[in-house]
Amino acid sequence: MTELLERLRSALGPDGIRVGAVVGERHRVDRTGIDPQAPLAVALPRSTAEVAAVLRLCHAAGQAVVPQGGLTGLAGGATPTRDAIALSLERMRGIEELDPAAATVTALAGTPLQALQEAAEEAGFFLGLDLGARGSCQIGGNVSTNAGGMKVIRYGMAREQVLGLEAVLADGTVIGAMNKMLKNNAGYDVKQLFIGSEGTLGVVTRVVLKLHPRPSSLATAICALPGYAAVVTLLRRAQAVLGGVSAYEAMWHDYYDFVTSRSDRPKPFATPHPFYAIMEYAGVDPEGDAARFEALLASMLEEGVVLDAVIARSEKQARSFWQIREGLEWDAVEAPIHLDVSLPIGSLGDFAERTRAALQARWPGSINSFYGHIGDSNLHVSLDMGGGGEARRRAAEEAVYRVVRDMGGSVSAEHGIGTLKRRYLGYSRSEAEIELMRRLKQALDPKGILNPGKVL
Ligand code: LAC
Ligand code: ZN
Repeated sequence: MTELLERLRSALGPDGIRVGAVVGERHRVDRTGIDPQAPLAVALPRSTAEVAAVLRLCHAAGQAVVPQGGLTGLAGGATPTRDAIALSLERMRGIEELDPAAATVTALAGTPLQALQEAAEEAGFFLGLDLGARGSCQIGGNVSTNAGGMKVIRYGMAREQVLGLEAVLADGTVIGAMNKMLKNNAGYDVKQLFIGSEGTLGVVTRVVLKLHPRPSSLATAICALPGYAAVVTLLRRAQAVLGGVSAYEAMWHDYYDFVTSRSDRPKPFATPHPFYAIMEYAGVDPEGDAARFEALLASMLEEGVVLDAVIARSEKQARSFWQIREGLEWDAVEAPIHLDVSLPIGSLGDFAERTRAALQARWPGSINSFYGHIGDSNLHVSLDMGGGGEARRRAAEEAVYRVVRDMGGSVSAEHGIGTLKRRYLGYSRSEAEIELMRRLKQALDPKGILNPGKVL
């Protein structure tokens, strides 16, 4: 070990590797805070060549490596396993190029997502990826985990934003696939191996992202609805009439009640309703868009699809709607459980009912709340099990995932598998699919040094 550390130190320079007390708390665990583990050391490369050097040396020594970005993940994917070295991309930050003709931006993996969003805006474009952790997450992590978030309904997940990337394999081989073209069918699309594989097949070091035209109008409303079917009807009608919705977030009343009862912010509705949805439309015709948005809501009110609606009259008011969806009130709960599942959109209403029934039968009085990106068939389930420690957390998760399995859904819509959902991968993937994943892992990382114990 000492010998490997010495080699790493000579490859990265004295400040390129931290060992022992100087490693810092933040490299021990991701945003879940579950099972923190100090890495043996943290490597802080400044270039792709240095990442390659770290991996080459660790590969030769059979040393486990855990790639780390902004550590905002929610599945344990960047949390060190025992005796692993953390490979932090945080020093590899910066935008290398913004190409207005190609409508692409090229950046190093450690660049914060927000910096890319701002650069796109400044150049008159729009980046189609947005999530709550935008200020601290890094684009390399977003790509490695195929991050989702609030704009997927319009632009797709992180995978859809990636035109090209560069990644380093477990043995230090650099795979340059910095494609800028929209069309490229020259053989296998190898970049896909590194997107969403959570750092188990390679370390993403640079990315080329697609840019979209920047919208010039924004309309936001919060709606109260009578039932889940109405939530889906409103979405489909809005998409048909407006020609694209930029965000659509549903909240079951138990989630809405939990959040609004614990905050002193203004509440949009005077009386309680069964469902709520925040709908956003971003277009290019400020006056026309506002009029069409209002007309749509008026007809939905008339038809009884919507019971009540408030259109934001200012950015500040829109912000106050989004604060309900952000649900920061959950931070005050001791050991909350946040799950991230997906099912076909038509089944999400039944899923929530079946899950609530299963949880209440076993843990009456526990808080079970449902909300999320239903337009992406993605539901978040947040639970306050009222204590019970690790054992109850596991039992509650399993109860939810059993319903997911029985209804043919996925145990991870957007947060990934990491370590926390590994035991449930078989609930959503066939034996043959998992065997193929193992074969890919074996082919790319035969010594199993890259993020071992994650996903598979
Ligand atoms: C969200 C994150 C937790 O949608 O996925 O709020
Ligand atoms: Zn989400």
